[in-house]
Amino acid sequence: MSNLSVTFSKAPGKEHEAAILGFYKDKERCSSFESLNYDLQGFLDHALEHNKKFKGKYGDIEIFMAPENAPYTYIVLLGLGDKDELKPSSAEKAGGKLFAALKSANITTAEFYIDNDLSSSGEFAANLANGFYLRSYDFEKYKTPKEGNDKPLKPEKLHFVLFDSDKAQKLYDVFAKISDGVFLCRDLVNEPPNALVPDIYAKRIKEELKPYGVEVDILDEKRMHKFGMGAILSVGQGSANPPRMVIMRWIGDRDSNQEPLAFVGKGVTFDTGGISLKPAAGMEDMKMDMGGSAAVVGLMKALAGRKAKTNVIGIVGLAENMPSGTATRPADIIKSYSGKTIEVLNTDAEGRLVLADCLSYVQERYNPRLIIDLATLTGAILVALGHEYCGTFTTDDALWDHLNKAGEETGEKLWRMPLDEYWKKDMEGTISDIQNMSQKSGRWAGSCTAAGFLWHFIKEDTPWAHMDIAGTAWIKEDRDLTPKYGTGFGVRVLDRMIANFYENA
Ligand code: BES
Ligand code: ZN
Ligand code: ZN
Repeated sequence: MSNLSVTFSKAPGKEHEAAILGFYKDKERCSSFESLNYDLQGFLDHALEHNKKFKGKYGDIEIFMAPENAPYTYIVLLGLGDKDELKPSSAEKAGGKLFAALKSANITTAEFYIDNDLSSSGEFAANLANGFYLRSYDFEKYKTPKEGNDKPLKPEKLHFVLFDSDKAQKLYDVFAKISDGVFLCRDLVNEPPNALVPDIYAKRIKEELKPYGVEVDILDEKRMHKFGMGAILSVGQGSANPPRMVIMRWIGDRDSNQEPLAFVGKGVTFDTGGISLKPAAGMEDMKMDMGGSAAVVGLMKALAGRKAKTNVIGIVGLAENMPSGTATRPADIIKSYSGKTIEVLNTDAEGRLVLADCLSYVQERYNPRLIIDLATLTGAILVALGHEYCGTFTTDDALWDHLNKAGEETGEKLWRMPLDEYWKKDMEGTISDIQNMSQKSGRWAGSCTAAGFLWHFIKEDTPWAHMDIAGTAWIKEDRDLTPKYGTGFGVRVLDRMIANFYENA
């Protein structure tokens, strides 16, 4: 959630605690500097002259008290670096840094003077505002609010002053819709696992998305049994909370006769590993194992929120992986929705089972022109790429280019990983069609064998990408645009990919 209000106008507003001024490399001032300096009787000149630390380097932030009787209590200097290298993504990140700095200074209202000389001042202001908004997210619903002097202060109002305020406002309004999709994704990931068991989660998806015009269907365990969805059912069978599959439809372009885009998400609401139990240390983090599904839900909200002119199916498989007397055993053979049998060699490799049935179902029902799945699938992707890049597997070069471009633009960075026939073959079974863990490769190339498994469930010629977000969905330290924990990863990059390449004008 965020209580932040962001506004834009041509004239300064009233009664803001702080004035923010941008600077470029070597303390080059933005054009609005002079008028404020005049109002403050040369105080800014004086402050800049004596401040040896602030160089105007990108990300430099200085906050100091304004003189008595000044219209502001604080002056904030924000370094933006090289004027010629100011990209939308760097404006966004500067906004995130600015939020953090104002928050630690207990500043609640601020006014930003944007440089009207910038070639795209409206775009710059909107991106900066969006970074500020993205960073303002918090998840405090389980904390008893503090009152009075104990109440922590944080920015509540940010006002931008610029000529091109109309353009900034228009752009920002769209960004905010997407960011609200990101916030929903973060909220879902941050929820404790007892509050988001599959049934509750499925209902929550309906509640969140229906008001936006997204059609939502929930398959319960009985319907899944009837359909023969043995793979997802086997993951949930050890839990008292039965699985669900949720299908979301956003029809933003009724006139189009093109097949829809499909996004599939792993929604393991808690992954204990099942009978192949995980170690106790760190197991609490496995509440984030539904991050792929949360990204799909957040994406649907973003697309519907900004009324994207395209048709999209979102599908998430929700299950809780628990050990119990009814749980799947290592060595069980199950039958997936596709008809293929799977030997479950390790019950902790459960995400791929959930995805298998979702992938088969979405292809059979909707014949999508493109499928992208998101899943916190393997610990191995963290070994390879840490928290910085999302490992992305696809055989389709055009799709990779589209994803990669959107990744670069939004800062949700992707790294292409190999999809190789070798690993597909590696996942073939000995006494079953397929096995859920490679006996030959073991844990080596664990992310690649996992992708090889999924590949068995993709029809030939369907453009498909698999995004392993195990490292990027959940980060236990702050980033410029994201406070720690659920990051919302996936919503922005996929929304941008759609806007750039898959949306009708
Ligand atoms: N949910 C985990 C993957 C994971 C690990 C996500 C760390 C986020 C952080 C997944 O279900 C899993 O346990 N995968 C196993 C697969 C193995 C048994 C083949 C793994 O990565 O060890
Ligand atoms: Zn697992
Ligand atoms: Zn898992």
